[in-house]
Amino acid sequence: MPHPPLAPMIPLADGRAIPQVGYGMYKVPVGDAARLAAAAIDLGYRHLDTAALYGNEAEAGVAVRESGLPRDELFVTSKVWNDDHGYDETLRAFDDAMDRFGLDRLDLFLIHWPVPSRDRYVDTWRALVRLRDEGRVSSIGVSNFHLHHLERIIDATGATPVVNQVELHPWLPQRELRAAHQRLGIRTEAWSPLARGRLLGDPVLEPIAAKHGRSPAQVVLAWHVAQGTIVIPKASSPERIAENLDVFSFRLDDDDLAAIASLETGERTGRDPDVD
Ligand SMILES: NC(=O)c1ccc[n+]([C@@H]2O[C@H](COP(=O)([O-])OP(=O)(O)OC[C@H]3O[C@@H](n4cnc5c(N)ncnc54)[C@H](OP(=O)(O)O)[C@@H]3O)[C@@H](O)[C@H]2O)c1
Repeated sequence: MPHPPLAPMIPLADGRAIPQVGYGMYKVPVGDAARLAAAAIDLGYRHLDTAALYGNEAEAGVAVRESGLPRDELFVTSKVWNDDHGYDETLRAFDDAMDRFGLDRLDLFLIHWPVPSRDRYVDTWRALVRLRDEGRVSSIGVSNFHLHHLERIIDATGATPVVNQVELHPWLPQRELRAAHQRLGIRTEAWSPLARGRLLGDPVLEPIAAKHGRSPAQVVLAWHVAQGTIVIPKASSPERIAENLDVFSFRLDDDDLAAIASLETGERTGRDPDVD
């Protein structure tokens, strides 16, 4: 099927690279997940973002195996869930995830949340380092880590995550954390890049979308990619899935970027990682 150009590859500090746009699979119902992940691949996505929590790793694996594409042309991310923190628990959870995927290698494995109340994320990180050293996962990273969580795992192990996947959108641009990522050589990946769709009706976006002949979702995604952020929008129809990849053929100007910057409120759609 003709599709928009593939998303650019963003280099990672470990020498690998990740497609800048991925298909986010949180709340993609299990009955639809294989079909929608396959549609995303058919429409030009080369990156799927799932997690043990989402219950659709098996369906993502089916879409990868049946895509007809060489395995190294697709990038698959999963995440270890909060209940599986700890060294041995994480190794077991990884084996279980790979059984569900039906794949022999994962591209990126993340700690889903630091869960400071359990305080086991350093041991969880040590397990990810081992999985990477054994070649079972190509790259390792974290999700929902504040700077102090990042510093703790780096100090304890000497291993720096290549990605931190955090809530990020125009309401919550994560300026300080992004600057810290830059210092540490960590790529920023935005979850809920559309603020779960809630900011798309904002009147600030409408004239910008009209000016470029694009949708508000495309404007928000173009704002992300202009900053070099990796994005993983979720959508439930092939039309929206295609629309969300087609964000590289126009460019926001300085006025557009300033108008979008005015949307910052600090509001989160999810919880603060320090409050669990
Ligand atoms: N690491 C973490 O803790 C974490 C947490 C949350 C999410 N994530 C990841 O981030 C991904 C994306 O986050 P998210 O699903 O929470 O939110 P999101 O991608 O910001 O927004 C998804 C919502 O926007 C709507 N939407 C998508 N494309 C649209 C378009 N072109 N026009 C109009 N509406 C559109 C979707 O509607 P329809 O579905 O009805 O099309 C859905 O309601 C997740 O799927 C998951 O992979 C990670």
